[in-house]
Amino acid sequence: MTPTLHLRNLLLGFVVSRALQIAAELGVADALADGPKDCTTLAATLGAHADTLHRLLRALAAHGVFEQQPDGRYANTALSECLRDAVPGSLRGLARMYGDPAMWRAWEGLEHSARTGESGFVHMHGVAPFDYLAAHPASARRFDEAMLSSSGLMNAAVLEAYDWGQFGTLVDVAGGVGSTLAAILEANPALHGVLFDLPHVMDRARAYLAQRGVAGRCRIETGSFFDTAPAGADAYFMKHILHDWADADCLRILRNCREAMPDRAKLLVSEKVIPPGNDPNYGKVVDLIMLAMMHGGRERTAEEFRDLFAQAGMRLTRMIPTQAENSILEVVKA
Ligand SMILES: C[S@@+](CC[C@H](N)C(=O)[O-])C[C@H]1O[C@@H](n2cnc3c(N)ncnc32)[C@H](O)[C@@H]1O
Repeated sequence: MTPTLHLRNLLLGFVVSRALQIAAELGVADALADGPKDCTTLAATLGAHADTLHRLLRALAAHGVFEQQPDGRYANTALSECLRDAVPGSLRGLARMYGDPAMWRAWEGLEHSARTGESGFVHMHGVAPFDYLAAHPASARRFDEAMLSSSGLMNAAVLEAYDWGQFGTLVDVAGGVGSTLAAILEANPALHGVLFDLPHVMDRARAYLAQRGVAGRCRIETGSFFDTAPAGADAYFMKHILHDWADADCLRILRNCREAMPDRAKLLVSEKVIPPGNDPNYGKVVDLIMLAMMHGGRERTAEEFRDLFAQAGMRLTRMIPTQAENSILEVVKA
């Protein structure tokens, strides 16, 4: 392929991404779960326009997401199966979050980000992302579903990479509705958990923890990590939190954790660590998502993490790779 054609395809990547988001929003993959369907039937089921649905699925089928059969009906493929709801490896929650009108609009602010270093989301909406979510329940639910989807992809790797059973109590700092904490508690029957997040998230977490059968071993605490953290636990876990924030905000979060931690406690930070060099790396893509969507968010290199922890009065003791893209950074008080 010539450089021009290669670049043109990269340029139009957003079209495929947007089509995937709409297919996820409509629920096409679930509607095909029990077998192939023609677009008239599909459109009637999904409240869509039949010919437009055909054009959308034809374009996606060219990338292996759905396939058109010789009789014209569409069927799921291994890729479109991942757009189904609540199946192992489901990406539907993530696709719907990226397709949320507020999230999609933040990308319009990327030029502003490039010129100023400021958040695309804040530029377009005039409000910080988590304040926006607190005021928009439908987007907040999508965000939580996306975090469930994302956690579902890496919970097994987080479980396998670290000995969680060594602790009596584990706090998940800003643990969302509790997907990862529930998985850790399920695998370690003697462990007790504390799930800490903003009040509107914890309203949804109660039902989720009960449904996972771990509510009896998991206390819920609400608050802001800029003010406080639950005190006295053996370990503190924090996944996809530091990458949401600029260094100054991370330091406030880390110092509050440090304050709450007994001297012997450990902090386990699960994040992507950006390697040097030009090789493809998922963290480099997520870094741009953090730039556009968050308020100062960024992915960091090992050195940047080490410095950040040192500034918070802490020491990075181990950096443990996992089978997923995240590493687990083990941190203690300095
Ligand atoms: C990217 S999500 C990660 C959630 C979860 N740790 C996971 O990995 O799925 C960030 C979380 O930070 C929470 N959060 C944002 N601002 C917060 C604050 N000031 N205090 C406590 N939690 C906050 C959000 O509600 C959300 O659950």
